[in-house]
Amino acid sequence: MTFTTIAEDRPLRGVIVGAGFIGRQWAPELLRHPLTRLVGWADVDRDRVRAAADGFGLPDLPVSDSVYALLEGEEPDFIVNCTVPAAHHEVTVAALGQGVSVLSEKPMAVTLEEARSMVAAADRARRLFMVSQNRRHLPGLVAYRRTLAELGPLGLLHSDFSIPYRGASFLSTLEDPLLQDMAIHLFDAARAVSGADPVSVYCESFRPPWSWYSGNCTAVATFEMTGGLRYTFNGSWSAPGYATSWTGSWQATGTRGSARWDGDLMLTVDPAKGEHIRPHQPEPERHPGRTRFQGLAEGLEEFVTALRTGTPPQGECHDNIRSLAMVTAALESARTGVRVPVLPDPPTGEGP
Ligand SMILES: NC(=O)c1ccc[n+]([C@@H]2O[C@H](COP(=O)([O-])OP(=O)(O)OC[C@H]3O[C@@H](n4cnc5c(N)ncnc54)[C@H](O)[C@@H]3O)[C@@H](O)[C@H]2O)c1
Repeated sequence: MTFTTIAEDRPLRGVIVGAGFIGRQWAPELLRHPLTRLVGWADVDRDRVRAAADGFGLPDLPVSDSVYALLEGEEPDFIVNCTVPAAHHEVTVAALGQGVSVLSEKPMAVTLEEARSMVAAADRARRLFMVSQNRRHLPGLVAYRRTLAELGPLGLLHSDFSIPYRGASFLSTLEDPLLQDMAIHLFDAARAVSGADPVSVYCESFRPPWSWYSGNCTAVATFEMTGGLRYTFNGSWSAPGYATSWTGSWQATGTRGSARWDGDLMLTVDPAKGEHIRPHQPEPERHPGRTRFQGLAEGLEEFVTALRTGTPPQGECHDNIRSLAMVTAALESARTGVRVPVLPDPPTGEGP
């Protein structure tokens, strides 16, 4: 995996695509970063994107209802893809095809086939394609990863996710809104904290009778991971009561003991007899601010550093596709009722 770096000593030109909830969180990050310039903003809803730009005091910022127009007109170095998941493939491939690097919101794509063709497009273009998994930068997650590294080989990892949520309107159009949109945060976090990759999964996805979603908003899944680790996930987006954090609540067991994390700042360890392990403490946030969406600034920093130095960032597409493969395999298992392998790469080595 190699991508072309940008050596010129100038700020990087960025275009945001999508002016919904998360696009409006990314805009201030591009405006704040000393090495990025926001040079355009696209959304299929032109009024929405104009209003968003005006709302940030940017009446002269070029806006368009077409990403293609801004790719041509503003010659960006990168785009931030903040569109709905169904548009991720088209927008990302369009940018890569013009030699423009991509920082995308999760999930990379809706299907694994789409994702494989996006990774192939990045390879062909020799451009950086990174998916922002903002939870990876949470101080609590970093401390938990460091703590688990001291437990010896892990045997069990579990996360509960329980949030009563009525979110963006595109969610109500999905058959499995929890697995298709949210679960990737937890699945990617499982990879991040354990260092293990997925092997296979058995999953059930369903709709409890009280749910306000028409699709399946609740799921239980058991993943076999490399090293024999089992990662289990219980999640619901319409659970009335005992809400967890937005990054779930976690427990892991290894040779030297067990460790819990509340998904926020609280970590505890119960060491095995004779072991003396203490939890790592979360470090202070590097980009604090009550109104800032956690983890975006750190992701942008890794992306910019990667474009300058060639160092692959977390979420680089060849790695991130493994988290998406956990989602798509879980969906397949839920639909077929059997355990299925998690295969991020093309099954027979042919290109997408
Ligand atoms: N990291 C996180 O915690 C987090 C939080 C919220 C959303 N997200 C992700 O961000 C993405 C967007 O979510 P949202 O809540 O902002 O949705 P949203 O519906 O609020 O906004 C999406 C915007 O994309 C626009 N759009 C759709 N197709 C387009 C296209 N082809 N070209 C240009 N614009 C297009 C829509 O008009 C809309 O304004 C999703 O992938 C979602 O999963 C991530």
